[in-house]
Amino acid sequence: MKPVKEVIHKCLRDLNPKSILDLGCGGGKFTINFAKRGISVTGVDKDKQEIHEDNFNFIQEDIRDFKFPKKYNLIFTSMILHFLKKEEAWSVIKKMKESTSIKGYNLLVCMSNKDDSEMQNPKNFYPSIEELHRIYLDWEIIESELGLSKEHQHYGGEIHSHKVIVFLARNKD
Ligand SMILES: C[S@@+](CC[C@H](N)C(=O)[O-])C[C@H]1O[C@@H](n2cnc3c(N)ncnc32)[C@H](O)[C@@H]1O
Repeated sequence: MKPVKEVIHKCLRDLNPKSILDLGCGGGKFTINFAKRGISVTGVDKDKQEIHEDNFNFIQEDIRDFKFPKKYNLIFTSMILHFLKKEEAWSVIKKMKESTSIKGYNLLVCMSNKDDSEMQNPKNFYPSIEELHRIYLDWEIIESELGLSKEHQHYGGEIHSHKVIVFLARNKD
């Protein structure tokens, strides 16, 4: 399995979006460089983030309540959907699809059902690659790959990494 970061960067390198929505953006690790290049980025996170970049518009909000005020070329969400119940994640993804412009993209980076984390809650969204394909049946699937996150450690526990899906799809119409 490839490192997830490598797969994400490969996907982002090939895109030329005019506007980006980053759901659960954290510090905007993956999208801040687009803002630095003059592309309009909206980042949403429930926790306050100190992001000082002219083209990065940060909104402090729970993504379950976010109203998607317009359409975006690229909607990106990384390592957040597993915090949501399955139904909540499905609802967010439905809104992501509806709020993507024609020929725009969704890039999802999700903890997968193949992950063996003890923290995995069966009610939460840990999709298989097949489930994401089903959800995006009406879109063109450009990338769907299982990768490995960077090794890390929680509270003195074992060093581990997660099995993560990188999934890129394009709105056909
Ligand atoms: C693991 S971090 C990932 C940050 C970033 N997307 C990345 O890949 O580096 C998860 C982020 O999701 C945010 N988050 C978790 N649940 C959320 C929710 N319901 N609404 C908005 N943000 C949420 C957390 O505050 C945190 O910044």
